[in-house]
Amino acid sequence: MNLASIIENRKTEKRVALTPEIAKKYLSLGFKISLPKDYGIHLGFNDQEYKNSGVNFFDTEEELFKNAEIFIQLGLPDNEKLSLFKEKQTLIGSLNAFSNKEKLENLKSKKINCFSLELLPRITRAQSMDILSSQANLAGYKAVIEAFQIYEKAIPMMMTAAGTIPAAKVLVVGAGVAGLQAIATAKRMGAVVFATDVRMASKEQVESLGGKFLVVEGSENLETDGGYAKETSDDFKKKQDELLTETLKKIDIVICTALIPGKEAPKIIKEQMIKNLQSGSVIYDLAAIQGGNTVFTEVDQIIEKNGVKILGEANILNKLPVSASNLYAKNVFNFISNLYDKETKKLNINLEDEIIEKTLIK
Ligand code: NAI
Repeated sequence: MNLASIIENRKTEKRVALTPEIAKKYLSLGFKISLPKDYGIHLGFNDQEYKNSGVNFFDTEEELFKNAEIFIQLGLPDNEKLSLFKEKQTLIGSLNAFSNKEKLENLKSKKINCFSLELLPRITRAQSMDILSSQANLAGYKAVIEAFQIYEKAIPMMMTAAGTIPAAKVLVVGAGVAGLQAIATAKRMGAVVFATDVRMASKEQVESLGGKFLVVEGSENLETDGGYAKETSDDFKKKQDELLTETLKKIDIVICTALIPGKEAPKIIKEQMIKNLQSGSVIYDLAAIQGGNTVFTEVDQIIEKNGVKILGEANILNKLPVSASNLYAKNVFNFISNLYDKETKKLNINLEDEIIEKTLIK
């Protein structure tokens, strides 16, 4: 089969779906690969490196569309590029099925198979393909680094002849994949870490990383069968507000990661809580692009309220695009390996396979 990838909108996306290392893996499965020139040059993956693995290069993407059967991407390509897709081609990526419904409908009506990998079920067999986990893990790490960088005090406790510097206190809101990595990163750097979540299963995970779990009093476990968070009741929100309003008085850095799949991010950090933080505190909001976990978050801006800096970016993974691409490319390869029938040398869209059924846009 002919596999290709086209250049993403590099203003918003620096990651690539195919690295030279993973190209070798597709070629050893018997795939042919085509890429447009300068595909990975901005990450230090030059064309020659791909060519050494056996990849063909084309001067224009139009030429590449003639023979390609499968396209692997990060996001959904823009309208101009989408118009180049032809019947029976397959598009695989993090296509954001909830917000791109109409465009995906349109592709489906043109008989283009679209697989959106953020819809992967959270089952053991899909773990090696799980783009949400691989990317959220890096995002959680980088959010802590970004917040610590802007924070104007030291993070670990230091006892010196000139006096003692206390350890910074970090609160992680949402202890899923990103949150747990944020806890681990902040702990490694010497912070005292607190965390809260609506899923009680995360309590043990937080504690195993050395964090202190803050339980919303009288709360029940708000976890769906798929392992995701449910929306909270008004009563829960009130109790969570009280807990956080009090807790934030002693916190220096907040890392927000709380999400509910397919919905706007819950607004957890309110104005009064921010007033309770000390001047110089920092909030890094990883939920910014989904609307933010604080009432003031604005994408790609540093908002200052009472001396508290609130940060949130459209795509924090653009700050470590090489690591993120390496993991993403491997996830996609694992997904395609499951979709590819080695005997017929074709994709086998077997809807009895939960992984295929859940990711295919129908
Ligand atoms: P996510 O990115 O959807 O949400 C992040 C975190 O925010 C979650 O832990 C969620 O419970 C929490 N949250 C949502 N609303 C909240 C609120 N109002 N207050 C406080 N916290 C709130 O979740 P993520 O990181 O993708 O993980 C979801 C689940 O999937 C977890 O249970 C995780 O262990 C599981 N998982 C399972 C995998 C598997 O293959 N078995 C792989 C990866 C994750």
